[in-house]
Amino acid sequence: MSQIDKVKLLSFKENCDERGKLVAIEGLKDIPFDIKRLFYIYGSDTEIVRGCHANRHSEFVMVNVCGSSKVKIMDGLKDKVFMLDKPYMGIYLPNMTWKEMYDFSPDSVILVLASEPYDPNEYIRNFEEFLRKVKKCE
Ligand code: TYD
Repeated sequence: MSQIDKVKLLSFKENCDERGKLVAIEGLKDIPFDIKRLFYIYGSDTEIVRGCHANRHSEFVMVNVCGSSKVKIMDGLKDKVFMLDKPYMGIYLPNMTWKEMYDFSPDSVILVLASEPYDPNEYIRNFEEFLRKVKKCE
């Protein structure tokens, strides 16, 4: 199975009442991994492209909790583009997928949940190197 076939959209339960809405996300229950880290991305201009890397080990769930953005996922064989524009929808990304985030709305805030603590050494930031590693694993 190609890594892209493991990418999936997740729909979280919205707890709605007269005060507003609340979404809760628990590791290993609402998403496929235990959450070791979270970070969020905001303040990116529309023409900016972020990401442009793959992670050897980390899996991620990305949620645009405000505004919208697009994420392009590549695994060396196929690519897919997802629009993130709902605070109750997330996208699950397995390890060894190349990701590029772009088309940020001015109010875009992307919440990213990660399966691993931050380790810059697990990042592959060169696309050719990524392709070479993917081919070796086949
Ligand atoms: P970077 O990986 O370049 O961001 P993006 O994936 O959105 O393109 O990270 C930007 C900076 O933040 C870089 O200096 C590393 C730092 N950083 C951390 O310190 N911890 C983290 O968990 C992440 C994801 C990044």
